[in-house]
Amino acid sequence: MNNEQESQEIYRPSAEVIAQANVKSYEEMARWAERDLEGFWAAQAEQFTWFQRWNKVLDDSNKPFYRWFTGAKTNIVYNCLDRHLTTWRRNKLALIWEGENGDLRTFSYHALHREVCRFANVLRSMGVRKGDRVTIYMGRVPELPIAMLACAKIGAIHSVVYGGFSVEALHGRIEDSQSNVCITCDGSFMNGKIVELKRIMDEALKRSPTVEHVIVFKRTGHDVPMEQGRDYWWHELMALPITRAAPGSNRNDTEILDAEDPLFMLYTSGTTGKPKAILHTHGGYTVGVGTTLRAVFDLKEEDRWWCAADPGWITGHSYIVYGPLLLGATSFMYEGAPTYPYPNRWWSMVEKYGINVLYCAPTAIRGLMRFGEAWPNRHDLSSLRLLGTVGEPINPEAWRWYYRVIGRERCPIMDTWWQTETGMFMITPLPVMDLKPGSATRPFPGVQADVVDEQGQPVAPGEEGYLVLKTPWPAMLRTIYRDPDRYVQQYWSKYPGMYFTGDSARKDKDGYFWIIGRVDDVIKVSGYRLGTAEIESALVSHPAVAEAAAIGLPHEVKGNAIHAYVILKAGQEPSDALAETLKAHVGHELGPIARPEKITFVPQLPKTRSGKIMRRVLRARALGLPEGDVTTLEE
Ligand code: WT7
Repeated sequence: MNNEQESQEIYRPSAEVIAQANVKSYEEMARWAERDLEGFWAAQAEQFTWFQRWNKVLDDSNKPFYRWFTGAKTNIVYNCLDRHLTTWRRNKLALIWEGENGDLRTFSYHALHREVCRFANVLRSMGVRKGDRVTIYMGRVPELPIAMLACAKIGAIHSVVYGGFSVEALHGRIEDSQSNVCITCDGSFMNGKIVELKRIMDEALKRSPTVEHVIVFKRTGHDVPMEQGRDYWWHELMALPITRAAPGSNRNDTEILDAEDPLFMLYTSGTTGKPKAILHTHGGYTVGVGTTLRAVFDLKEEDRWWCAADPGWITGHSYIVYGPLLLGATSFMYEGAPTYPYPNRWWSMVEKYGINVLYCAPTAIRGLMRFGEAWPNRHDLSSLRLLGTVGEPINPEAWRWYYRVIGRERCPIMDTWWQTETGMFMITPLPVMDLKPGSATRPFPGVQADVVDEQGQPVAPGEEGYLVLKTPWPAMLRTIYRDPDRYVQQYWSKYPGMYFTGDSARKDKDGYFWIIGRVDDVIKVSGYRLGTAEIESALVSHPAVAEAAAIGLPHEVKGNAIHAYVILKAGQEPSDALAETLKAHVGHELGPIARPEKITFVPQLPKTRSGKIMRRVLRARALGLPEGDVTTLEE
């Protein structure tokens, strides 16, 4: 399909959707923000409680180190939990959780607050103080958000490592963050099997001896080693009198923080070397995340919201943990695999819990689509009102299936483009907007996005270029932890005054954005973000490997799959068995998501004269495309 046809397929919202939308006019809201950016965000900030108001909404005196709501005192946890307790929401469900094995747990706002306070007291008793880093490496259990909120409540900085990562990935993140306390589970259930979280943590800690305490939540109950004096069971600590020691039982005073105090860091992959820790703060993040969730997913008091991501990624941080609680919403969380034990698992839970809004990744839709319509058709999905996607471009075919089979042609699909770095939705529809399958539509009010050429000049409608952002936004990253130079160089140096996203895109004649994909060394596998450098360094850590290059090639379900090219050390013989060993090695070091689909043994790799691997050339060769400009090729 060409661009012209692509932008002609339009889905208009029904009168019913428009009638109940929280935001009635995109244009009006966008014009307001364009006219008065600070006034716009200040008005949004009024929805939340501040211990002390700000002096300035946006301080841009030290670009690109922007600061938001300076002088204000707040704590995101006060807005997520404490303030609801004096209202009727105290008794409203904050969280409904279903385990893969069918376990069901629910938490009212009162109950969630109580658990968070008790765990905050545990952390304090272990010596965790404001500004300390805590690494959280858990399965998808309610204790994961509880641990995050407890850190935030006392002003500690959480660093959540996705539970699908493995030894080397975990080790690098613990070490870089300099955490003294880690929180994990004995294991987690996935696809009917146990993921050995505690054993992976033990292996990672052999390589980082500075960690003093490990708190282990018992989920699976299988046997795991516990190291005396270092490892403690969550349930035993929570039963100690210390959790009630603060004046008034089950209480823990929420630390009063500056709006710009750090809330969390989250590692993500970029162009070079090791993953970088993206740093987010309390005040601006509260405003950005709360505002976007209310406007885009139109949440109502009586709604049940399901963001099917993992809390270990930014989607989960912003829209499972913080966003819904900021709005006092009811969130549903599921532990396991979408197809366990059968491919109707998700749809049976939509029916059982009466989910109103479902937000997931295109890869999940493509994966479930393969099993056919009969599975969703067995279920009553009429509670659904709105749908959403995130993480990678959605192909129009999957979009139409989601719209017709899951949304029964009643539910608009919010295709939200954003990043770990942006913290909040950046290019996204609102429910009242016309939709085009495969387009994330237009920038959220207050966001100025554009598509530019190599020189930073806007390209003509329909032409491909680099996606940039031209105004700061409240939930933006503040820096890369302990590496401010890299923050400047990575995001703000390609074009002066503009944030460089690392994505390519087109903008059509209606101003709709079509995201194409990454232009750097990031590979998106099933929506997960991996760096070629991480995969290559895992390969090279195997004794048989001299050199390696990883690229992403199109894959029907995953979006991209990893293909690796490997030069063996002298004396090593290429074989299928060795290829399998290397795949398993990457899986063991980084995690199953990073396992290469295919390994090809090669005698040499295309490189520039300065020795940089030209992955672009490898990709072109694999796809049978022209190699482009190879004047710098040394080979
Ligand atoms: C990259 C950021 C943001 C939460 C999850 C991903 C890609 C994200 C879309 C979308 C096309 C998308 C981009 C972006 N991406 N959303 N709706 N359409 N591409 O966060 O892991 O930081 O990855 O994901 O390439 O740069 P992340």
